[in-house]
Amino acid sequence: MATDSTPAPVITVDGPGGSGKGTLAALLAERLGWALLDSGALYRIVAVVARDQGVPYGDNTTDEQVAALEALAGRLEIRFEAGKVWVDGADLSTEIRTEDASTRASRVAALPPVRRAVLGIQRGMRAAPGLVADGRDMGTVVFADAELKIFLDASAEVRAQRRYNQLKNKGLSVNLRDLLASIQERDERDRGRAASPLVPAQDAILIDSTDMSVDEVLERVLAEAKARGLC
Ligand code: C5P
Repeated sequence: MATDSTPAPVITVDGPGGSGKGTLAALLAERLGWALLDSGALYRIVAVVARDQGVPYGDNTTDEQVAALEALAGRLEIRFEAGKVWVDGADLSTEIRTEDASTRASRVAALPPVRRAVLGIQRGMRAAPGLVADGRDMGTVVFADAELKIFLDASAEVRAQRRYNQLKNKGLSVNLRDLLASIQERDERDRGRAASPLVPAQDAILIDSTDMSVDEVLERVLAEAKARGLC
């Protein structure tokens, strides 16, 4: 149990897009009664607000542009509330889930100053009784001392299909072939970048969810949490 001197426990769930980490993290947080950090949403927010405010970035982002993005990331007022995302008082919940936002997020996330600006927000969410944090570098960088680290993966085809179903359910228009291409391009950028690349932490438990149901993955992770006295 966390006291004033011991930090609250953290379970990290990292993995590529569509691996099911968001769903797993939300279910885990609900079961344990812990807070939930969707770290990808933070990069999505920075990317969408920068786009809407005309702050440019791309493959050859200049130092001034990076500084503008860092400043923007540092001053945003972000609230996660009952499944919604509020940014400076506006509801951006749907806006940040488009494929355009996904691609843009992976571009701004490759910039170290933006990652630095987001780090404080992420660590600030660690509070008793505990935090479930999902993303790419939760176990390797942000919460390297987490009690339990999961790295969730699945084949690119299955991940594209899951993303397709998710976006369809939200009423967004999507094409499966484009989604697969976009997932593969994002994977390459997330795994290949110098700053906090997508890799499993050395002490992470690797789970391939290609042929597993959500419940099977959840039960497997709950068993690991139990073995560590987290529930
Ligand atoms: O998880 P999600 O698909 O919402 O993340 C969007 C993008 O944000 C990822 O493709 C990745 O580039 C970036 N990201 C990151 N580090 C995290 C979470 C997300 O770089 N911890």
